[in-house]
Amino acid sequence: MKTNLITAALVAAMFTATASFADVPAYLDDSLPIEERVNDALSKMTVAEKVAIIHAQSKFSSPGVQRLGIPGVWCTDGPHGIRPDVLWDEWDQAGATNDSCVAFPALTCLAATWNPEMSYLYGKSIGEEARYRNKNVLLGPGVNINRTPLNGRNFEYMGEDPYLSSRIVVPYIKGVQENGVAACVKHYALNNQEVDRAFVNVLVDDRTLHEIYLPAFKAAVTEGEAWAIMPGYNKYNGEHACENPVLLLDILKGDWGFDGVAISDWGAVHNTDKVAQSGLDMEFGSWTNGLNWGASNAYDNYYLAKPYEKMILDGTLPMDGLDDKARRVLRLIMRTEMNRHRPYGSLNSDEHYAAARKIGGEGIVLLKNQNDLLPVSSEVRKILVVGENAIKMMTVGGGSSSLKVQREMLPLDGIKAKAADCGIEVAYERGYVGDVTGEYNGVTTGQNLNDDRSAEQLIADAVKAAKEADMVIFIGGLNKADHQNAEATDRESFALPYNQDRVIEALYEANPRLVVMNLTGNAYSMPWVNKVPAIVQGWYIGSEAGNAIADVLFGDVNPSGKLPMTFAKELKDYAAHAEADSTMYPGVGGDVIYKEGLNVGYRYTDRLKPSRINYAFGHGLSYTDFKLGKPELSVAGDESDVRYTVTVPVTNIGGVDGAEVVQAYVRDVKSSVARPEKELRAFAKVKVAPGQTEEAVLTFDRNAFAYYDPDDAKWTLEAGKFEILIGTSSDNIVAKVPVTVGKSQKWADSER
Ligand code: BGC
Repeated sequence: MKTNLITAALVAAMFTATASFADVPAYLDDSLPIEERVNDALSKMTVAEKVAIIHAQSKFSSPGVQRLGIPGVWCTDGPHGIRPDVLWDEWDQAGATNDSCVAFPALTCLAATWNPEMSYLYGKSIGEEARYRNKNVLLGPGVNINRTPLNGRNFEYMGEDPYLSSRIVVPYIKGVQENGVAACVKHYALNNQEVDRAFVNVLVDDRTLHEIYLPAFKAAVTEGEAWAIMPGYNKYNGEHACENPVLLLDILKGDWGFDGVAISDWGAVHNTDKVAQSGLDMEFGSWTNGLNWGASNAYDNYYLAKPYEKMILDGTLPMDGLDDKARRVLRLIMRTEMNRHRPYGSLNSDEHYAAARKIGGEGIVLLKNQNDLLPVSSEVRKILVVGENAIKMMTVGGGSSSLKVQREMLPLDGIKAKAADCGIEVAYERGYVGDVTGEYNGVTTGQNLNDDRSAEQLIADAVKAAKEADMVIFIGGLNKADHQNAEATDRESFALPYNQDRVIEALYEANPRLVVMNLTGNAYSMPWVNKVPAIVQGWYIGSEAGNAIADVLFGDVNPSGKLPMTFAKELKDYAAHAEADSTMYPGVGGDVIYKEGLNVGYRYTDRLKPSRINYAFGHGLSYTDFKLGKPELSVAGDESDVRYTVTVPVTNIGGVDGAEVVQAYVRDVKSSVARPEKELRAFAKVKVAPGQTEEAVLTFDRNAFAYYDPDDAKWTLEAGKFEILIGTSSDNIVAKVPVTVGKSQKWADSER
């Protein structure tokens, strides 16, 4: 009897449930295709509601449609960790106690892994943190090309090469978006300097635009299927990126078929009429104070708010333009917040720390290792560590990527922990004093880095201690202060700051068993490069910096990172600075002219004497040695469908497990247009055990051999001879594979 009653109650409940499901509007029914749901929601919205969802309501959020139960958008920086919450309309901290995060290595470090698997792990992990914090748009990753090593924000990007950046950005986006969080790729496009970033007008030829500055954005959209993109502050050809119909309508939404949302950089919109018609979909960060500036609500005065609504209602601007923007925002919400099947995410998990450590260790680059000074040998009894970056928290500062971390292992602590396991004593000397502020927008490191000693005294103390040590490890570089690696300012010099070159020279004189490890997001000059026996390039490595560094220095991790940018001798060895022409950098009268064209990074230094570079793009050593065998070419497809595969045997001829990145550069033997000496077109990272051989598999399609013809706006493949150059860095080519393309072809950017 009792059972029957329960069954009856269940049936009644099911009936009620079924009945109410039938009433669910289409936009809430996630069994329907997203487009159907989006159109249904749009058809139920008023003009005011459509306008409301396309602009901010606070520093980082925009409203949904409360009447319809459609949630809003919550953004977060990006790109290395989830930014702590700020007040509703202030940049100051909200003071929350649940918004500490794991800081992942900076994107330069990720790029230096040359490993798309690490990129997916990164995206997945940071996406989980964003999801747990209930953010549905992650403002990152950044893929602006390193045109100049002075750019203060290069640490947020993936180096100088469009192909490497493209291969690294795609898995990051996939990993993030699997969490139901949108990746917002930034800063589209040509935002390659911070000086005058709010208005600098970039003048660049079409070929360079398409071959150097757009490919990573294109890959993010067409392969990564990014749900959002952030047009930057700068201008291109006289129009701000946010109001630029060529960038947004013709290329992004036209040629690349982008169906996501173009979200303005914060405060980057200037004009209602222009922005409404240029393809930007959402406006954030315009300079209101959010409280009392404006008629009732300052956000109503945004360019895409009441002023836009008025122009729609009086017929000045078309409704279908507004519908397109609202439709895209609804699509974003359906893909993220209204996807009931997305996972819940996780914050500060052991897995995230492990991912940060793994990526960090894999991105560290061993530049030089004379006499196998590294890894630290078992004979070493006493190590002296010198340098501010060994004790400085580097997750705070730098601008919008500044983080509030749950914990950060400092390099000195990581080294001490590992040394203790090996019975090695560690002493520390500061060597120089750089930046002691330790505060950014209310996030403080809590560190007191003040030191009253004079520069001379600091060096004298370090030298004295160096003489008493078996080996010295210098940990310096740049930091996240203004004019170092920070948003809104560029570096003022290519040299390391704060007297560090002198400190390094003095340490070398005192104890030639010296390792120099610099943590930076940029290349810098190395006047001591020929003397110092071991040089390691670290980056901003985040929460696990100390552990990742110690893993490499002590040999638990065999370095396999490769430089994602050229380390030239001097600033003039970068084409943008070669002529010291201020129209090329930082610009004159608001214009900056990219006269160097395609000559960015190795595409320029390849034409210089080898002595003009310290370390080439793609360079990086290992604690073992590899030998590359004879490459084998196989051809598939026919003349109109070029497809080549090159396999290269890689043998580990040393004594420890390691990984080598086999790099393939394409050279056009004879071309009707000037082309770079060679361009990276494929790479593969292979792990190989001692004495073993593994195969690196490299594939090429027609894109690998093409150039962009600005006259007819088409990619162009010219029949004829090419060489596929195989090597372990851009300046260490060990084999050439000749290929002959049988048939010329042309195709538009839209035909992939
Ligand atoms: C930066 C963006 C950032 C945004 C929000 C801007 O100043 O250029 O990269 O995502 O602020 O913090």
